[in-house]
Amino acid sequence: MTTPAGDELAVGDEIEVVVGPVAHGGHCVARHDGRVVFVRHTIPGERVVVRITEGGPGDRFVRGDAVEVLEASEHRVPRRCPVSGPGGCGGCDLQHVSTEHQRTLKAQVVVEQLQRLGGVEREVVVEPLGDTDGLAYRTRVEVAVGREGGGTPFVGLRKHRSHDLVPITGCPIAHPRVDEGIAAAAQEAAEGGLEDAVAVDVVAASGEEDVALVEVGPQGRAQRITLTERVATPTGEREMSVDARGFWQVHADAPRAFVEAVLEAAQVQPGERVLDLYSGVGLLSLPLAEATGPEGQLLAVESDPLALDHLAENLAEQRQAVVVPGRVDDLLGVPRQGRRRGQRGGRAPARSQLLPPSADVVVLDPPRTGAGRGVVEALLAMRPRRLVYVACDPAALGRDTATLRAGGYELDALRSLDAFPMTHHVECVATFVPAG
Ligand SMILES: C[S@@+](CC[C@H](N)C(=O)[O-])C[C@H]1O[C@@H](n2cnc3c(N)ncnc32)[C@H](O)[C@@H]1O
Repeated sequence: MTTPAGDELAVGDEIEVVVGPVAHGGHCVARHDGRVVFVRHTIPGERVVVRITEGGPGDRFVRGDAVEVLEASEHRVPRRCPVSGPGGCGGCDLQHVSTEHQRTLKAQVVVEQLQRLGGVEREVVVEPLGDTDGLAYRTRVEVAVGREGGGTPFVGLRKHRSHDLVPITGCPIAHPRVDEGIAAAAQEAAEGGLEDAVAVDVVAASGEEDVALVEVGPQGRAQRITLTERVATPTGEREMSVDARGFWQVHADAPRAFVEAVLEAAQVQPGERVLDLYSGVGLLSLPLAEATGPEGQLLAVESDPLALDHLAENLAEQRQAVVVPGRVDDLLGVPRQGRRRGQRGGRAPARSQLLPPSADVVVLDPPRTGAGRGVVEALLAMRPRRLVYVACDPAALGRDTATLRAGGYELDALRSLDAFPMTHHVECVATFVPAG
């Protein structure tokens, strides 16, 4: 069989490559006859057979899976999940890599994104959180409900870049209580239940004895269930309420670790004015409010109705805390990302009076897309003493770092936390201060 030329590669072709560096997104970069191939299920330095899964002649690059390992990396380990790997569940990209080396690879990605997009050279160490070797940590898993040939329901997780489902009865990265919940949902489906569901959210909140199973219907219709989470803070354990389907950090140890990292980064002084943007139900707002004390002010900004009631409830005892409902970009008078000024619906609203003109400390924890240039520039205009950026995507952090640097701020401290073992995801807590 002849090997196809680089520009002729098409889905189904198999080629042999030596794998190059790790790239953002859970794959490594290889080249075949000059053509870039993004390869999943491999490790830099390995010689593998790649089956092309996406792309073809005319595309800038192709994607593929390592389906045979000819020379294995010393960091390769047996997968800890039977449904991971080529053609399997798309959730875990790194099941075949030792947990220690997973963190090395993620550190390389953070270094590369910060350098290439943010123009910052930085050594990065990804720190483990408290988990059992990268397993049994997820307190929340949404399983999809499929229909066998359109008939009997089953629960499963999606394949990589696909709507197809891999049936499951458990998940090794799920917290043991969530694992049991997934088994219960699978059983219910097998017995003919879950008829009207398209998904089931399985949630083990730290303040609840029972695991919650929330059936999700078409258009995301679901019952609203309030759960209690317990969080260790410097001033003791705190209880917070959250909707079972609302945002809460998924790693069992993440709430404690993020609170600690953000407080250390923010160094809030009593009496200061602090902004917690994209606050969710107030995981960070509550300890930040406590740090600024009764003489200070904490403004928590959040747009999701599922979070807002809980945010108000969780901050009720903090008289210095103010909940500001709405989108951060709208409130700052910035056009929404992806729309340009003058486009239909893209005109920025006026800057809201609910946000003050200045702040001592700004904490922001935006979704995967990042804050974006307009929001970052508006925050720079508030001249904070410290700006703490909690980022779940190193590429977004890299882009926003470039804006912060252009606006006269520099990256001071950076911590990276392995809040999503077995996957390529990594969380960063980056502290920016005025340059010089
Ligand atoms: C990554 S979560 C962080 C939540 C919180 N810091 C925590 O750790 O629990 C991001 C939050 O931002 C909210 N969000 C997304 N886009 C927003 C926007 N444009 N304005 C305000 N909040 C937004 C989401 O609803 C979500 O609660």
